Amino acid sequence: MPLKIAIFISGRGSNLNAIIQAVADKRLDAKIQVVVSNDPEAQGLTIARQHGLKTFALSHKGMKRAEHEQAVLKHLEEYEIDFVVLAGYMRVLSSEFLRRFKDSRGFYKVINIHPSLLPAFPGTNGYEEAFNYGVKVSGVTVHLVDEQVDHGMIIAQEPFPRFNDDTLETFKARGLSVEHALYPAVLQQIAKEGIRFNERKKVETAK
Ligand code: GAR
Repeated sequence: MPLKIAIFISGRGSNLNAIIQAVADKRLDAKIQVVVSNDPEAQGLTIARQHGLKTFALSHKGMKRAEHEQAVLKHLEEYEIDFVVLAGYMRVLSSEFLRRFKDSRGFYKVINIHPSLLPAFPGTNGYEEAFNYGVKVSGVTVHLVDEQVDHGMIIAQEPFPRFNDDTLETFKARGLSVEHALYPAVLQQIAKEGIRFNERKKVETAK
């Protein structure tokens, strides 16, 4: 059974495009039920429509967070959804929203990709902040979403180097190509095996 997903975007949609391509190439056993955006002008919506996907765009401007989320949730009721996939969705989701996707084990079936090795450089400018800090290695994180921003159980991380002659543009481009490979691969792992917790036990350290 394909993993039924709703993909949330706010802009360019290059991760959305990578997921669409992975489904088309049969590298990812998923069905994109709907693409949601909080920006009706988002470039990614055009990509979605070009591929015949259903879209739902509703600007958050002038709306309270709860009102906007309720409208999105109402729309999502039309679809069966196993996982919400955040792909450059630049809105924080409230716990009321997240609870709607609660798994029986207590986690939320909402996943995000972030352009840094979390917990370093959370927020909206992961690449810029890592680059300006002078990191020698950066990376990409895919994690489950919880109530905190860019926080939640890490599912996968993929590092990439920063070279001495990098500009912010070359650094970002390297990171984005890592994102485009990693996100579909992680989604395929979830499609096959679900979310696995048992290998992630914390170790108590002596004080
Ligand atoms: C990606 O780099 C993604 O990791 C980042 O936004 C970009 C969206 O690009 N997400 C975050 O910073 C989340 N905190 P895209 O629209 O081309 O996929």
